[in-house]
Amino acid sequence: MKLKGRGSVILFPLPFQGHINPMLQLANILHERGFSISIIHTRFNSPNPLNYPLFRFYPIPDGLSENHVISSDPNRIVAFVKFLNSNCQTPLRDCLAKLISTSLEDEDPIACLVTDALWYSTQAVADDLKLPRIVLRTSNVSSFIVLSSMSLLFEKGYLPLQDSVAEMEVPELPQFRFKDIAMLEACDRESFLQFIEILVQETKASSGIILNSCEDLEQEFLSKLSLLFPIPVFLIGPFHKYFPASSSSLLPQDRTCVSWLDKQQPNSVIYVSFGSVAAIEEADFLEVAWGLANSMQAFLWVVRPGLVQGSEWLELLPNGFLEMVGERAHIVKWAPQQEVLAHPSTGAFWTHCGWNSTLESLCEGVPMICQPSFGDQKIDSRFVSHVWRVGVHLEFKIERGEIERAIRRLMVEPEGQEMRERIKLIKDKINLCLKLGGSSYKSLDNLVSYILSM
Ligand code: UDX
Repeated sequence: MKLKGRGSVILFPLPFQGHINPMLQLANILHERGFSISIIHTRFNSPNPLNYPLFRFYPIPDGLSENHVISSDPNRIVAFVKFLNSNCQTPLRDCLAKLISTSLEDEDPIACLVTDALWYSTQAVADDLKLPRIVLRTSNVSSFIVLSSMSLLFEKGYLPLQDSVAEMEVPELPQFRFKDIAMLEACDRESFLQFIEILVQETKASSGIILNSCEDLEQEFLSKLSLLFPIPVFLIGPFHKYFPASSSSLLPQDRTCVSWLDKQQPNSVIYVSFGSVAAIEEADFLEVAWGLANSMQAFLWVVRPGLVQGSEWLELLPNGFLEMVGERAHIVKWAPQQEVLAHPSTGAFWTHCGWNSTLESLCEGVPMICQPSFGDQKIDSRFVSHVWRVGVHLEFKIERGEIERAIRRLMVEPEGQEMRERIKLIKDKINLCLKLGGSSYKSLDNLVSYILSM
């Protein structure tokens, strides 16, 4: 239901699956709170307007070819985000200017622009057009703090990572080891730091930050965040608990896995997915396959086309592998992940620890095997395995024996049951945040009042 005349909010997602999902969930949340919604989006990886009949969609040119593929190489990801920022700045300005001029004749004035934090070039556009900009940071608070402190971490000599201290705790952030904060170690330092500097500067210049997390999960980092960013901060997550993300999926979700899960025993299946960007080498792919097969557990495996660079799909599996694992395995290109995690047969999630996946797993009480690849995933993994103790950590270099051991720890041994009990408490805590009087509930109320006051 739309409460009349609350004004309209314009949202501009970054065209990555892990960023589109939370932005469109946020759009739904704000719509339900009475705002009308416009989505400006790149043509590349554009959301499907047919799934959102109540929103208005405005594509802008991005300078990318239609068949552009997002690389999993951190250097290329940084270069890609910079490219988008410079290419989309003028088209965004033109689009917004048009929307502002038409809104003057409309009853629904534009209240603000919400953009992904990585769209740093949008702050200048918002300033020029005198439009307040609120930033959406799609990671959790702690990893945002680490990312924003990169220059300092280099100045202190904590980075680049030295092997001799890799396993030691960071004095200012004792939850994490030096190797956990080495977010984009493979990146060219100068280019990476320049990218972070502008991201931080333009976030500070914004009117506020929204995060897809909740205060009760990350209490000890909130004061650090306010010191770094002395602007209003709203932790209103987990967003997907208000609205599921299936409608913003860029790939078709194969629903055969749900009927396959229906036939399995409770808590008997290990669900495996490394998100929308992470890629693995052919040798690792084979280790994953053998680790799963040797574990003797039922598994649902998402093999995204491109998971192994240059491969079509399953052709790298050894001859006879599928026949050998038979009914015990189900492999799909893309799954309805939230539904899979909520399914009673799903007993564990082997994940790359993207923040959306981590949060979705916490919300369903599913313990994790964590195999982070880059960026915030290392921080999330440390949280899961060592702070919350609801998962086991695997190094990104993987070996079938280690995989088999990790799966057994979660699925067969008493340790897995203990993790299941601990994660159930976290799930309950998160649910409370969203209820009347809970921290996310209050924060959302504050956000709505804040937007109305703009
Ligand atoms: C990226 C980064 O890798 C991540 O670290 C950052 O926090 C967000 O951006 P991605 O790798 O795609 O995201 O991971 P994640 O954050 O977990 O998001 C993946 C989304 O795709 C989730 O919402 C998940 O539910 C969905 N998904 C995944 C599916 O719908 N089906 C699948 O088969 C797999």
